[in-house]
Amino acid sequence: MSNDKKNNKNNRRDFLKSAAIISAGAAAASCTAGSAKITPKRNLYLPSKNKTVMGLIVPKMDTVRIGWIGVGRRGTNLMRLMCNIEGTGIKAICDTDPKAINRGKEILSKAGREEPKIYTGSDQAYKDMLARDDLDIIMVVTPWRWHRSMAVDAMNAGKHAFVEVPAAFSIEECWDLVDTSEKNQKNCMMMENCCYNREEMMVLNMVRSGVFGEILHAEGAYIHELRWQMKDMTEGTGSWRTDWHVKEGANLYPTHGLGPIAQYMDINRGDRLDYVTSLSSPAAGRDIYAKENFAPDHKRNQHIYHAGDMNTSIIKTVKGRSIMIQHDTTTPRPYSRHNLIAGTDGVWAGYPQRIALDKDNPHKIGGMSYHKWDKEVEKYYAKFEHPLWGRMKEEAKKNGGHGGMDFVMLWRIIYCLRNGLALDQNVYDAAAWSALVPLSLDSVKDRSSSKDFPDFTRGIWKAAKPLDFKML
Ligand SMILES: NC(=O)c1ccc[n+]([C@@H]2O[C@H](COP(=O)([O-])OP(=O)(O)OC[C@H]3O[C@@H](n4cnc5c(N)ncnc54)[C@H](O)[C@@H]3O)[C@@H](O)[C@H]2O)c1
Repeated sequence: MSNDKKNNKNNRRDFLKSAAIISAGAAAASCTAGSAKITPKRNLYLPSKNKTVMGLIVPKMDTVRIGWIGVGRRGTNLMRLMCNIEGTGIKAICDTDPKAINRGKEILSKAGREEPKIYTGSDQAYKDMLARDDLDIIMVVTPWRWHRSMAVDAMNAGKHAFVEVPAAFSIEECWDLVDTSEKNQKNCMMMENCCYNREEMMVLNMVRSGVFGEILHAEGAYIHELRWQMKDMTEGTGSWRTDWHVKEGANLYPTHGLGPIAQYMDINRGDRLDYVTSLSSPAAGRDIYAKENFAPDHKRNQHIYHAGDMNTSIIKTVKGRSIMIQHDTTTPRPYSRHNLIAGTDGVWAGYPQRIALDKDNPHKIGGMSYHKWDKEVEKYYAKFEHPLWGRMKEEAKKNGGHGGMDFVMLWRIIYCLRNGLALDQNVYDAAAWSALVPLSLDSVKDRSSSKDFPDFTRGIWKAAKPLDFKML
């Protein structure tokens, strides 16, 4: 067979294979919206002529001029915090809901900020805002179905995109973010705020200081009982988030647990997510909640909830390390992100915070038992407090936002942009961390068969420098 014929045959086989996988992933992708065209490409490795954006540094901004899309539950909180950060100007606000627009205007006016230009009236109004030439960054704080298209449109309009979690919901969407960021040399940061929490930042410092030895395994989660959001019917998070539970689901919200772990493990900067196997429990809790809280003919009782209440996904990294990530927003269970990291010399776990180390362990009995945790963790904060929290603690306490982590994240973003520093999270992180949504879905539907993560960095991860974790 000639090489051309062989290539054609291989291309066709690849095409058929990817078409089959695409239709399997269509349930998640069909939830998404927007105009930017998506090309189906699930290949694991895609060459590109565009320059990498790993470590991208953009010209320093004196004042960071912001266009804001979405002033709902989350957008309201973030906007309040942003107003307390020096060197920012919220020039324009876009929301389809007039109440949200008024809320945004009020926040800015109370903070003594200039009156913003308003964009509303249609779900495409954000595009008029993107056409302005006096905006540097766009905040995307909208429902999940809009994340990819708003971020892509923002970068194509010459702005840096800052998008809420998860950034994308299909592998095609992940690649689209990567391609667009590289083509325009614009940042696309998924604002994973848990990477800026005091505990996670201290643990990152401990990992880098070698406290746990060689890192082998980690566990993260988003366990947060949110059934009450099902009562949001016409507006608010539950009005759109509940629909995702009606579809087949797996890990719908992986990045709060996975993001900090990826930073502990230098994912995309020396190691890479390789493959995942995933399984879900039965879906029971939302149906019970609907029966107890809504009339039999209510919309919430007309659905079948397909997303299993608890999803457990297990990832192997290229270097062979293991990561367990769970998702459960349904069962009546206390909040947890697990935040467990284990190495050859010890283990840290969150919720509640505890540690067990091979050396200096007050609970080690007879030099051989590790059955007890050391819960007196303040001494570790005294020694390993992350420098950013050391600097920001008072301001974080004063401003709040999930215990201060939201403020620290926004402050750090603005600091990087004003000082010509690379952001701590780039588009490759957004893509790899978000890819767990569609890959877990594919795996659950395929009797937990393993599914490969694409190499969104196109090989750059092997030589990429670890995150400058001191962040100063
Ligand atoms: N990182 C975190 O800790 C955290 C916490 C909560 C929510 N979130 C994320 O924030 C995002 C928003 O969640 P929320 O709870 O604020 O939802 P929400 O429904 O309360 O707010 C969304 C807002 O977007 C507006 N909107 C919808 N479509 C639009 C469009 N086409 N153009 C302009 N505006 C549009 C809505 O009118 C609404 O005001 C979600 O992605 C969610 O996952 C993150």
